[in-house]
Amino acid sequence: MKNPTKILVIDDDRNLLLVLAETLRREGWYQVMTAENGKRGIQLAEKSLPHLIICDLMMPPPNGLDVLKILSQNPMTASIPFIFLTARAGEKDKLNGMDLGADDYITKPFSKDELLTRVHVLLRRKEITERTERHNSEEEINILRIELHAIMEKYAANHDDLAEAMAQALFLRDGVTEKHARRAIELCQQLAHALGLDETLINDIRLGALLHDIGKIGIPDAILLKEGGLTNEERKVMMSHPTLGKIILQPLGLSPVVLDMAYYHHERWDGGGYPEGLAGENIPLTARILAVVDVWDTLTSNRPYREAWDKEKAIAYLKEHSGGQFDPYIVEKILGIIQ
Ligand SMILES: [Fe+2]
Repeated sequence: MKNPTKILVIDDDRNLLLVLAETLRREGWYQVMTAENGKRGIQLAEKSLPHLIICDLMMPPPNGLDVLKILSQNPMTASIPFIFLTARAGEKDKLNGMDLGADDYITKPFSKDELLTRVHVLLRRKEITERTERHNSEEEINILRIELHAIMEKYAANHDDLAEAMAQALFLRDGVTEKHARRAIELCQQLAHALGLDETLINDIRLGALLHDIGKIGIPDAILLKEGGLTNEERKVMMSHPTLGKIILQPLGLSPVVLDMAYYHHERWDGGGYPEGLAGENIPLTARILAVVDVWDTLTSNRPYREAWDKEKAIAYLKEHSGGQFDPYIVEKILGIIQ
């Protein structure tokens, strides 16, 4: 049976239009309408009232913003979910679109799965809103919430692919980081099990450990790969990697755990770390776990600037800095694993 859900795609790039329409048709048997310019898109939207509109931002006038503006002024089309398709990911464009009521953005080039996830999520969200307005039935809304969650879960595997691809980009530049990240994943997972954390969280921790130093992509080779100590200036640049990591990861819609681990893994239990100088339990637990693992692995492996420490010396370091640099409870747990 044909899905009654209608999607309108507006793009002046005919090839992209065909690919998009075909992807949507095949996946969900949606009814897909296409328009090769903004004017035709507006006409189609007003005539057939689609359930969702995907519209290119950069087109000859009327461009994507004009289309959204016109449709949002018409009460018949104002509440149709609207996704911008854009080669520009500039914050100003996004804010402009948000002000006008765009619901989401897809930046070109995009993957089929990314597109489908966003389409599913927006359609479901619209359905939930409509049902809330119609019935206000708590039970029904909850069922829809669960369905929405299931859709997100279905596409969660893609986050793994995305994370792995991003991590590879860093590892191509810095091979040492790869081995470090892989060992950190293993030890973070063991620690998470020892702390009794649940499987969903442990999976997020795995991604967080894989991507925690992703911000190093933005550090120049002369500093990132330097053999020997860094100057104060160079150290300052290096210390920007958690912030760069957050900037890189934020738009991807990954679990907040991944972001926390990238951003806070150089915080210290006593508040003397960076970038925020958070202390104690104000530092997310997952970042506190990684902070200990990160240092342990760094000390016990060879680095361009020094030989690996032996196990006893590294254990002594963890004990000495328990309650200072590190969360004492995490140190206690890691000692149970590595000793
Ligand atoms: Fe780091």
